[in-house]
Amino acid sequence: MKPIVLLTTLTLLFSPLPAAATGETQFKKRCSKLSKSFHAANTDILLAEYIARGTNITLPEPAARCPTSFISLADMCRLRLKVTTSSTSRVIVEVFMPTNWDSKGKRFLMTGNGGLGGCIQYNDMTYGTSLGFAAVGHDNGHAGDTALPFLNRPEVVKDYAWRALRTAGQVGKKAVNHFYPSSIKKSYYIGCSSGGRQGLKAAQEFPEEYDGIVSAAPAVYFQSVIAAGGQIFKIVGPPGSPTHLNQNQWNAVHQMVIDQCDGIDGVLDRVIEDPMKCQPRPEKLLCGPGQTWDSNQCLTAQQVLTVRKVYSPIYGNDGKFISPRLNPLTKEFVGYLFMYGGVPSYISEGWYKYALYNNPTWTIANDFNWNTVDDDFQQDLFGVGTDKTDLKAAKNKKTRILMYHGLADCLISSENSYRYYESVSRDMGLPSSQLDKFFRFFPIAGLDHCTSGDGAWFVGGSVQYSTAGALDVDPSDGVLMTMVKWVEQGIAPDTLMGRRLVGGNVTSEKAHCRHPLKTTYKGVGDPNLASSWECRTA
Ligand SMILES: *[C@@H]1O[C@H](CO)[C@@H](O)[C@H](O)[C@H]1NC(C)=O
Ligand SMILES: *[C@@H]1O[C@H](CO)[C@@H](O)[C@H](O)[C@H]1NC(C)=O
Repeated sequence: MKPIVLLTTLTLLFSPLPAAATGETQFKKRCSKLSKSFHAANTDILLAEYIARGTNITLPEPAARCPTSFISLADMCRLRLKVTTSSTSRVIVEVFMPTNWDSKGKRFLMTGNGGLGGCIQYNDMTYGTSLGFAAVGHDNGHAGDTALPFLNRPEVVKDYAWRALRTAGQVGKKAVNHFYPSSIKKSYYIGCSSGGRQGLKAAQEFPEEYDGIVSAAPAVYFQSVIAAGGQIFKIVGPPGSPTHLNQNQWNAVHQMVIDQCDGIDGVLDRVIEDPMKCQPRPEKLLCGPGQTWDSNQCLTAQQVLTVRKVYSPIYGNDGKFISPRLNPLTKEFVGYLFMYGGVPSYISEGWYKYALYNNPTWTIANDFNWNTVDDDFQQDLFGVGTDKTDLKAAKNKKTRILMYHGLADCLISSENSYRYYESVSRDMGLPSSQLDKFFRFFPIAGLDHCTSGDGAWFVGGSVQYSTAGALDVDPSDGVLMTMVKWVEQGIAPDTLMGRRLVGGNVTSEKAHCRHPLKTTYKGVGDPNLASSWECRTA
């Protein structure tokens, strides 16, 4: 090995490298040295390597329902860690540190997870590094988007509820502060779905860790979301049962909602600005005597009742409120694959089976009832419900929270986010004018769950970057840089810019207003232009 070292030294001594190249060499060296130089409690270093922009990294052991590769969007140092969180649990943490961090504001970005946790959001991380952030991701305490690792391991559930996030954030910051010559200036968080819930968890329990938190489509009121997954299966039943609708029939439901609700906001564009004004009447699709789906594209009375139930709030034992209705005019056919297709949501079933009951033979089909839901609420394992409305600590620490939720979300009802915002407002005694100093909520019409949709859905948020054309959109008015402006320049956003991306092209733009203002069509002008809309008091 010695001659190679000597050769490298000689090369450095005798070839007049440009300053940039020298800096690059030093960066690479510091990076590979991390495996010896970085130390943190309960932490093993699995990898420390330099990665050039454009490199396709294939992940050696891709976990269930997780990405198998990612493309680096920056020249960076990649650090992979294993942090032990108890004698029976650990979290895998990745830290991406780009070369231009110093000149880009010395910012730290934490990313969240999705579903049942378990997948590192590499796309969110690489997007962060493309903007100069040092980005951290973690596997939320277990590999794969599956609940199996929860079985008889409460410490793994605890990691999922909050501890993996907190641990990864702390060790990630330590690594970033160790690696660069200067310290982190500001810390940010982005995440959607489970990641949105994690962001709110941080806001509720450890807001001092972040200056700005972006929480999208949060699985807040976790037990409600899980219960809806179970109950929807009970409502639709397995394929072939009289209550069940097939995918074509759900497409007809979708069209029925468009026919009845699309015009409410004054623009026929398959987008409903305010789904709460939409009360679709599925009886419109009811078959008359002698009619059938095959001959008349109509539904039986039982199927019509299924649609009514899917678009009604859910109440459990003793009339207890469980969950708001699902949003009308979601991509019912996407929901079909996940919720209405006659197979119970793997998220709901996995949670009850492995986290709540530790019973591998438990199933939604055979065992789910309102007592299940009561058990889940009562146990509220490790505070996973994430429904704490006292955000005083966040307010005092001047942590900014930006929540957004797609109004065409077919998995988590956007009414959950309204409900959370209004509950915080009441419980803290802060009208919007006060609450909005640190907590703002942007409903996004025409956005599905986290990504894609028929409206101006692209806001530069979590899990949106892998869409064609996303990286060509100027990031300066995207949600992440909007949060940076709020934190670092005190410019609080009144609107959140959204764009519709189709086949890599931007086909419409809209500045989505913050709740409780309503994004309203002015009545004249091209509705695909942001300038044709304004924010009005409801
Ligand atoms: C990266 O490599 C993986 C595995 O070799 C491949 O499946 C994937 O398509 C590649 N990604 C791109 C964008 O080329
Ligand atoms: C996107 O725009 C390009 C250039 O205007 C055009 O050639 C292409 O057909 C568009 N793609 C789609 C899917 O509309």
